[in-house]
Amino acid sequence: MIYSILLAIAGLASQVSAACSRATLREVAAAYVEAQVGGKLTLLSLASNTSYAENDKPMDITKGVLSQPIAIDFNRSIYDTTQCATFTELTSATSKHPYVIYTRMLLTEDASQITKIESVVTDSGDWAFNATGHLYWTRQEKWDPIPESQLG
Ligand SMILES: *[C@@H]1O[C@H](CO)[C@@H](O)[C@H](O)[C@H]1NC(C)=O
Ligand SMILES: *[C@@H]1O[C@H](CO)[C@@H](O)[C@H](O)[C@H]1NC(C)=O
Ligand SMILES: *[C@@H]1O[C@H](CO)[C@@H](O)[C@H](O)[C@H]1NC(C)=O
Repeated sequence: MIYSILLAIAGLASQVSAACSRATLREVAAAYVEAQVGGKLTLLSLASNTSYAENDKPMDITKGVLSQPIAIDFNRSIYDTTQCATFTELTSATSKHPYVIYTRMLLTEDASQITKIESVVTDSGDWAFNATGHLYWTRQEKWDPIPESQLG
């Protein structure tokens, strides 16, 4: 009897730790920001077969923008605990090479490993690119939860 209760508790515990929590996703996104700041892929918990693409083009992550350091002026992330995914906006306006980068990351169900990274990378020469202007406007945006009274 005690044995089966213990088993049940162990099962419950593993279910809880298998959940993709907002707190874990926040950590994963923060690690992504730090990885980009330092150009340090080692800060990311990648799966052995993580797919990586920039602007819809699959590429070698070690040759991508994420492997080079970029000073970030502003970042914002949103978290999807249902799909176990993150979405992060990075704005680098005051660096020598300004960028605006949007990145979606998909994780394993327990959020322990990143399985897919997709980035939209824009920089000088791209249509309407203006990192300074983007920084100015994005800083004023509020992405707080919408109060239920204002829904629908
Ligand atoms: C990566 O490997 C895992 C485990 O082996 C597998 O389930 C998954 O489908 C693979 N993903 C890709 C994109 O190949
Ligand atoms: C990213 O945004 C968070 C939250 O606003 C902030 O605390 C952190 O310093 C930012 N990171 C960088 C590299 O700017
Ligand atoms: C970029 O945006 C800033 C701030 O809105 C503006 O002052 C500047 O003229 C813009 N630059 C270009 C090249 O459009």
